[in-house]
Amino acid sequence: MSTLPNILVTSAAGKTGLPVALQLREKGFPVRAFVRRRDARSETLRRAGAELFVGNQYALSDMRRAMTGMSVAYQCAPTAPNGLHFNAVFTAAAHEARLDHVVTLGQWLSAADHPSLFTREVYLSDLLMRMPADITVTSVNPGWFADNYLMVLDMAAHLGLFAMPLGAGKVKKNAPPSSEDIACVAVAALTDPGRHAGKTYRPTGPELLSPDDIAAAMGRALGRRVRYMDISERMMTKALRAVPPENYSEAAVSQLAIYADEYRRGAFAVNAPTDHVERIGGRVPERFESIVRRTVSARPDLRRSLSGQMRATAAFLRLLLTPALDLQKVQADRDYVRIGDPKFSQDDADWQTTHQPRKTPAIAGFAA
Ligand SMILES: NC(=O)c1ccc[n+]([C@@H]2O[C@H](COP(=O)([O-])OP(=O)(O)OC[C@H]3O[C@@H](n4cnc5c(N)ncnc54)[C@H](OP(=O)(O)O)[C@@H]3O)[C@@H](O)[C@H]2O)c1
Repeated sequence: MSTLPNILVTSAAGKTGLPVALQLREKGFPVRAFVRRRDARSETLRRAGAELFVGNQYALSDMRRAMTGMSVAYQCAPTAPNGLHFNAVFTAAAHEARLDHVVTLGQWLSAADHPSLFTREVYLSDLLMRMPADITVTSVNPGWFADNYLMVLDMAAHLGLFAMPLGAGKVKKNAPPSSEDIACVAVAALTDPGRHAGKTYRPTGPELLSPDDIAAAMGRALGRRVRYMDISERMMTKALRAVPPENYSEAAVSQLAIYADEYRRGAFAVNAPTDHVERIGGRVPERFESIVRRTVSARPDLRRSLSGQMRATAAFLRLLLTPALDLQKVQADRDYVRIGDPKFSQDDADWQTTHQPRKTPAIAGFAA
């Protein structure tokens, strides 16, 4: 019988949960994968030898059953409303199950007074998870994922446009990590709690890139010229609502707009890139162009074609016809908790301390 710990992976069909579960299986660890439905992703997990747990991870009774017999867990709240509820359910069940170690997926921006409610909830969840003395915790706090850019790859492939509200095209503002590289840091912490308990890691890609660099990397991977277009926040809300097949909820869009604001302010470039993927995860972080090339080779629909161009044009027209969101109203309508004096990351002294910012000219040059 295996003496390795049983590891629960929540959000196991998600961007980071799937590679976390697969990498754990490659290392021979027994994995229970929490998914909400059986589909191709759960089949991949099953074939890799993970035990599937199909349920609702926002429901305490399901989480209790999922944690039975586990000693270590990956805590990953979906990018969706009710993150604090998910994390409260997870934390309560983790106590009852007397887990030894938890690895949380938090955020680069995580801070007590952040303008984003989702981010304040992540900060609070991390604090609550760390309170009991009998569970050790490692936090993995990545910034803006490489995967976020891949959401607009269709338009880049068929219309030659990379459109996002990321500010000036030439300023290097993010070192985007692949989901697999974020996962490898989480896996290191899940499999060696003794070494990683109490630590916070911030995996990044290998180099800071500007929006123009990202467009150029997409262009090289797609074999065509791709031009960056800085769009307004209003246009971004239209685009996120028009993204098929499952549009982002209005609640999520309201928060993603704040993250785009942080991006333009240069928060994701503070003390980036880090060496955490290499030093903790034990592998060389993947370059953005290589991430795009992997995606392109897995998606024949990205090859240039008349039908692809017509699909992308139709999606663009749908975007133009989708109403923009009044982000303040969205938050007010949902009774989002407001705080008196919210602070963007770089205006927050506590955040600055934990990120040990370097006063380099590149960072000082960022404009809001
Ligand atoms: N994206 C970024 O740039 C970024 C940056 C920093 C931090 N983060 C953090 O990353 C976290 C999200 O991680 P991720 O991107 O790996 O996750 P993700 O891709 O959003 O995956 C979430 C998974 O949870 C599943 N799920 C949703 N509701 C469920 C329910 N009721 N019961 C069971 N499963 C359910 C979803 O299932 P289906 O797939 O079947 O719908 C999905 O597979 C967030 O907490 C966010 O704060 C993201």
